[in-house]
Amino acid sequence: MDLKQIIMSRYATKKFDGKKIDQKKIEELLELIRHAPSSFNIQPWKIKIITDQKLKEQLKPVSMTQDQITTSSHLLVFCANTDIMGNIDKLDAQFKASGMQDEKRAASVNMMKDAFENASEEYKLSWAQRQVYLALENALLGAKALGFDSCPMEGFDSEQYAKILNLPKHIVPTALCTVGFAADKPRPKIRFPKEDVFF
Ligand SMILES: Cc1cc2nc3c(=O)[nH]c(=O)nc-3n(C[C@H](O)[C@H](O)[C@H](O)COP(=O)(O)O)c2cc1C
Repeated sequence: MDLKQIIMSRYATKKFDGKKIDQKKIEELLELIRHAPSSFNIQPWKIKIITDQKLKEQLKPVSMTQDQITTSSHLLVFCANTDIMGNIDKLDAQFKASGMQDEKRAASVNMMKDAFENASEEYKLSWAQRQVYLALENALLGAKALGFDSCPMEGFDSEQYAKILNLPKHIVPTALCTVGFAADKPRPKIRFPKEDVFF
């Protein structure tokens, strides 16, 4: 399938058939997600992969009882990571290991740190969440490209997820992506006409 076919045939699957996706395919999907772009390349995300059926059953009631949770093969919980300074330090170490010239490295790191030094927790969260959605899109298109289906989901209680998954405060569940093999059919696409969208 070329990119156009992938974009046009992907749809928000409401029910999966419960079959497990091959681990090799999942690994391929995770690579596509990991390579998503992010501002400054800070990659402020952590993605929890859930396959355990009991855990999925526990999460369903705090996900508007949506069937995708329990019928999916894998439930990916896209979290924003608000420890931005921590990620900048990790990038610094990678720059160093890649042999980047010290002066260039320091300039890059300082520029990033300056951008977030006085940022409020609220700003850091909203900034990180915006990056998360780019990784989410890679998951949706990547799933289709690899031969399976997906549903992006915001219909869940982020605080309850954090509690059930025992997440630290800086890891904030932001969006879900359920993946599996569809047990429903795509609905006709409803989109605003191009005259309405582009100006
Ligand atoms: C950020 C986001 C959150 C969404 N949350 C849900 C959800 O919780 N449950 C659901 O069934 N669909 C959810 N959707 C799917 C949308 O309803 C769907 O993408 C839209 O209606 C267009 O349909 P299509 O994706 O099938 O083309 C979500 C989509 C996005 C992008």
